[in-house]
Amino acid sequence: MKTIFSGIQPSGTITLGNYIGALMQFVELQDEYDCYFCIVDQHAITVPQDRLVLRKNIRSLAALYIAVGIDPEKVTLFVQSEVPAHAQAAWMLQCVAYIGELERMTQFKDKSQGKDSVTAGLLTYPPLMAADILLYNTDLVPVGEDQKQHLELTRDLAERFNKKYNDIFTIPEVRIPKVGARIMSLQDPTKKMSKSDPNTKGFISLLDDPKTIEKKIKSSVTDSDGVVRFDKENKAGISNLLSIYSIIDNRPIDDIVSEYEGKGYGEFKSGLAEVLVKKLSAIQERYYQLIESDELDRILDMGAEKANKVASKMVKKMENGMGLGRKRR
Ligand code: TYM
Repeated sequence: MKTIFSGIQPSGTITLGNYIGALMQFVELQDEYDCYFCIVDQHAITVPQDRLVLRKNIRSLAALYIAVGIDPEKVTLFVQSEVPAHAQAAWMLQCVAYIGELERMTQFKDKSQGKDSVTAGLLTYPPLMAADILLYNTDLVPVGEDQKQHLELTRDLAERFNKKYNDIFTIPEVRIPKVGARIMSLQDPTKKMSKSDPNTKGFISLLDDPKTIEKKIKSSVTDSDGVVRFDKENKAGISNLLSIYSIIDNRPIDDIVSEYEGKGYGEFKSGLAEVLVKKLSAIQERYYQLIESDELDRILDMGAEKANKVASKMVKKMENGMGLGRKRR
């Protein structure tokens, strides 16, 4: 069986973008691959976090992974900071990465733009992500489009390490979904839907209640053309809503376009809101059962134990390659 690794930051709410771009792929792939899914809390602290809120978000994300259909019997679900190998490997990979290539990452540029000072962690975020992936002999990394550049850097770092020190890393491939790789903001369809958007109307949280979902969809920005049709360039808002509709309702876009032929945006938006409410209510029901239970802690303990076993072996190989520590007699 080939191996998959992917992670999500427990920073704020988990959005429909995270669900469509990442979580839905995870569910689809879990039967065919040996999967490691991670709650990357160490990535979250590259920007300021409230400690109590972060703790809550870690648990909440774990429950959401399972609520959307991840089967903890099949996959390894764990919290990054509970597996020290990630920080150990990240340090070694930082010593392989160049400052110039880290400064060129668009996520670093976006997040540091206009700030007087940013943490060193924000710059060295990608080697930590490379560590996550490379520790598990990962073949495939399912992510949304915004992570593509980080994956390219991961491959570069792995190749550089293999050549310079020890040929130990599998070079991972990226997997980006054909539809839904980049779900856009409901308020500005030229921007990615993001959990850190200060305008909460721009995103749908997986935990939004039915009224909020309806309101957000109804107030989403469209155009004045009045025809429901897919045209990303000229009708970015409607095209984004059509992509969401198609994925959530598991129907081709053309099918939905025919259904709303001659009907207005109001009707189209009501239909989409209905489909979303149905999907998210089922997820939320399972989520609220889990968040109250001890089952979640048992799953995460089990996950950390398994991940620690695999990852600590790779750290030893990396240390050997670089000549760290003493040779055991
Ligand atoms: P994060 O937490 O920002 O997002 C988690 C996943 O959701 C995808 N995503 C989207 N997909 C489609 N449309 C959107 N609007 C949208 N917004 C987010 C992201 O592409 C991602 O797949 N650096 C990563 C976390 C990470 C990781 C890793 C991922 C750390 N280590 C190792 C893969 C492998 C991040 O910040 O994702």
